[in-house]
Amino acid sequence: MSQKIKRIGITGAAGQIAYSLLFKLASGDLLGPQQPIALHLLEVPEAEGPLKGTVMELEDCAFPLLSEVEMGSDPETVFRGVDYLFLVGAKPRGPGMERKDLLGENGKIFATQGAAIGRVCPNALVLVVGNPCNTNCLIAQKAAKNMDPYRFFAMTRLDQNRALSMLARKANVPLTEVSHVTIWGNHSSTQVPDAVHALIRKKPAYDMIQDRKWCEETFVTDIQKRGATVIAARGKSSAASAAHAALEAMKSLIFPTPKGEWFSMALLSNNAPYPVSPGLVFSFPCTSAGEGKINIVPGLEWDAFLKAKMAITEKELIEERELIKDLL
Ligand SMILES: NC(=O)c1ccc[n+]([C@@H]2O[C@H](COP(=O)([O-])OP(=O)(O)OC[C@H]3O[C@@H](n4cnc5c(N)ncnc54)[C@H](O)[C@@H]3O)[C@@H](O)[C@H]2O)c1
Repeated sequence: MSQKIKRIGITGAAGQIAYSLLFKLASGDLLGPQQPIALHLLEVPEAEGPLKGTVMELEDCAFPLLSEVEMGSDPETVFRGVDYLFLVGAKPRGPGMERKDLLGENGKIFATQGAAIGRVCPNALVLVVGNPCNTNCLIAQKAAKNMDPYRFFAMTRLDQNRALSMLARKANVPLTEVSHVTIWGNHSSTQVPDAVHALIRKKPAYDMIQDRKWCEETFVTDIQKRGATVIAARGKSSAASAAHAALEAMKSLIFPTPKGEWFSMALLSNNAPYPVSPGLVFSFPCTSAGEGKINIVPGLEWDAFLKAKMAITEKELIEERELIKDLL
């Protein structure tokens, strides 16, 4: 194995998503079985103990591809030279905390990390997972001075996977028969899961399901609320499914998209071929030409139903941006 090591950064490395993600990365699930990797792990100082424990477990797996592990709590030190970066760490919403407080608290974290990225790994591909991920992504990309803002993305892949799985179950077909599922807008309860353009057995999902009310009401609201439903059942937020989605999302950015397919990803709306206000991190159907060269799939028509939903999620993103405008 004489290949140059690829460096993968993860923040929130002692958290529950990272606990699933790190072992997938170390076993080569992102870059394949020939590519040696280094893991760069960022945590807050208080989580140093649990992080050390996770690193011991990584050592105990004896992963042949895992050449180095670095850990620490200073973003500039930990991010130096990183090629791919998962920004997972964030503060959870505490009791009595308002949305504005959450945005403000997390905003500071993402502003600091964005500035560090701009200084020490300006060529990295960055996937923001920590919530509220769209607006955190906007903050980080603005803070990364002199860096291409189109290197920053926010994750809506878990929502897409949830939507795909739900359509397959409804139509009673294997998952592989469902395609072109899109999540538009914010990764929040205003997101727009789109069955209008989804295909089942290469035919429009609406024709296959033959239940417009289900497609426009049950499907949309269940996907919008799925994260909360998992918390209610499990007592904790989605972790393994989020880690799997993060891995798939980063893979979609790095490797060219197979012809005729697309994936959902939130990115800066400025050049989007859809009527979305500029300056938002909004989820669109995307393709990759490889190594983060992303195009938004043009030409999907928004019917009256989709237009109304898009307006709601766009308004929410504008409101979030307003709440953290001091950080931009
Ligand atoms: N985009 C999505 O689809 C999606 C899905 C699931 C979860 N999430 C979000 O991902 C985030 C992480 O979830 P989790 O379940 O792993 O949470 P968790 O609480 O288990 O772990 C978060 C970790 O981040 C660390 N952290 C906090 N501030 C940090 C900082 N400044 N630098 C580095 N690390 C820091 C914490 O110490 C903690 O260990 C949450 O914000 C969650 O809402 C997003």
